Amino acid sequence: MRQKVVIGISPGKPTFFCSAPCFLQLKFLLLPVIKNPYDSPMCGIVAYIGKRPAVPLLVEGLRRLEYRGYDSAGLSTLGNGRLHTRKRVGRVDALATLIREQPIDGSIGISHTRWATHGAPSDANSHPHADASGKITVVHNGVIENYQALKDALVKEGHSFASDTDTEVLAHLIGKHYAEGKLKDERGLLDAARAALRQVVGTYGIAALSSDCPGVIVGARRGSPLVVGIGQGEHFLSSDVNAIVAHTRDVVYLNDYDLVAVRADDFRVERLDEGEARVEISKVAHDAGAAEKGDFPHYMLKEIFEQPQTIQNAMRGRFNRNESSAALGGLNLTSTELRNVDRIIMTACGTSWHAALVGEYLIEEIARVPCEVEYASEFRYRNPPIDKNTLLFAITQSGETADTLAALREAKRKGHKALGICNVVGSTIARESDGGVYLHAGPEVGVASTKAFTAQVTVLALIALLLGRLRHLSAMQGSRFIQELESIPDKITRILKQHDAIREIAAKYKDARDFLFLGRQCNYPVALEGALKLKEISYIHAEGYPAAEMKHGPIALVDEKTPSVFICPQDAIYEKTMSNLEEVRARKGRVIAIATEGDTAISRKADDVIHVPKTIDALYPLLTNIPLQLLAYHIAVQLGRDVDKPRNLAKSVTVE
Ligand code: F6R
Repeated sequence: MRQKVVIGISPGKPTFFCSAPCFLQLKFLLLPVIKNPYDSPMCGIVAYIGKRPAVPLLVEGLRRLEYRGYDSAGLSTLGNGRLHTRKRVGRVDALATLIREQPIDGSIGISHTRWATHGAPSDANSHPHADASGKITVVHNGVIENYQALKDALVKEGHSFASDTDTEVLAHLIGKHYAEGKLKDERGLLDAARAALRQVVGTYGIAALSSDCPGVIVGARRGSPLVVGIGQGEHFLSSDVNAIVAHTRDVVYLNDYDLVAVRADDFRVERLDEGEARVEISKVAHDAGAAEKGDFPHYMLKEIFEQPQTIQNAMRGRFNRNESSAALGGLNLTSTELRNVDRIIMTACGTSWHAALVGEYLIEEIARVPCEVEYASEFRYRNPPIDKNTLLFAITQSGETADTLAALREAKRKGHKALGICNVVGSTIARESDGGVYLHAGPEVGVASTKAFTAQVTVLALIALLLGRLRHLSAMQGSRFIQELESIPDKITRILKQHDAIREIAAKYKDARDFLFLGRQCNYPVALEGALKLKEISYIHAEGYPAAEMKHGPIALVDEKTPSVFICPQDAIYEKTMSNLEEVRARKGRVIAIATEGDTAISRKADDVIHVPKTIDALYPLLTNIPLQLLAYHIAVQLGRDVDKPRNLAKSVTVE
């Protein structure tokens, strides 16, 4: 054996925004750009090997992963020396029904839930896919870019295919190498997987099963997360710790180009290039309960109500009271380095991008450091000038968003410091950043992001404080800022008490076809976020705009049927926002106002008012966003939408 391998359990520390090994970085840079993804890039994998019946564990794991993709689901087990596969278009429930009708057994299995990009979801396109012999099945997350060339070559050799997927091509390729190899055992299967994956251009996280090797599951990753769960006499393989955390909290996050053989009693990691494998065991910080709904009807509502706690978690241990500043050791930057920063670029997608916009306001206001916020999907293909004193932050809940990851890599490729603000511990962005800050918000399962947004804004407020205190911000101003931040969780609790009133407001407006969300300064990103939340879960068209910009076009939308949500706390620009509100009223527009407690004047102007407690201007987004989350939630529920799994979406967007 030439390659170095690691077998079983090796001691190690959890990865926590440490520097990534540079040889891996270089390899990432060699990855081709993914174009025209064909199949299932944002899906979930869960696999099990041990003594227990695999099917209930796999189905339970898939249910926990369903937020990652929910077009179709399937599984294969090995029982009585034979492979058994069940797969069905639709939700995991449809697969569970199929299995009840056609039961299968075995204590080793692989499974998958799919989010299709191209090609309609169908039974045939669902995973697992078998090789030509029918002895090997494969589940796959990612995109095999050169699948067509590989498929053409296989067809010429006599292979025929039952689906349109790239994954089936990979299964056939592994099967072909296995058939051609001498060894008909675990070693033969691993070598066949290695040979096939070396031919692949694109990204993958895979799990493969062979009826010739009933004691092993083979896995591999490149660009798509995969984690080994270590149990007692049993092991798991999954794309997401949430699928397996009910069974074990000891996990190994595989690195790109890792190939793994998972057995009941141990596991063995090799490198695709036969180099040295690095295995570190991490402890998952949360238990399975953190990813359960509890008494709440939806994850989204649970996560909205968690925010007083998650904001506290984001702040915990991160104040340096002696210096009236923040303590963010994970940034891995000295005070001198932080003082030398003269520009910040924040890059992100979706809700995280909105948090970055609030961050821009906070950092420029509190620390006077110029900031720019870039959509990661734009930044990665632009060539913006970045100099040595520019600091880049990639902001992401999942830590797996393809565009954000590519933006981070692009900045690192140019030799710049690139930091992460990330929720999922051990995620790719957390592992590849030069440093960063975890949100500590716990698992966010609802597809619409809520608690991650407020945790991101909290962390950005801490960064603003830290940078500010290294510049002109006085100790008194620093202390006042800390005091105000610490009061936010209680203030959110007060807002949440208006839950029933917000449900009633939702009932009044749920039939509107269009909504405007309007705010100014740091409440402009809140308007964007309010509009995004509403449209993604209720499918009502909504636009967020700076309140004063509205008269340059969107005001044409205003009539008695189009409600406007005004975010108008009593901040420095309150009077100006009021004038914009009057402009809408003058055109018979209905108005829902998010206003400061004690603002009685607004009740005379707005049709409905939701109050938030008073805070300093820069921190209002942490409060004003909460009613908008609840408004979107209740409108969507009242319209009968699938709030936690809105159509066409998936939680973690691992395709560009
Ligand atoms: C919207 C939402 C998405 C994500 C975006 C980025 O509610 O959840 O817009 O914010 O896909 O995801 P992360 O933060 O995981 O990079």
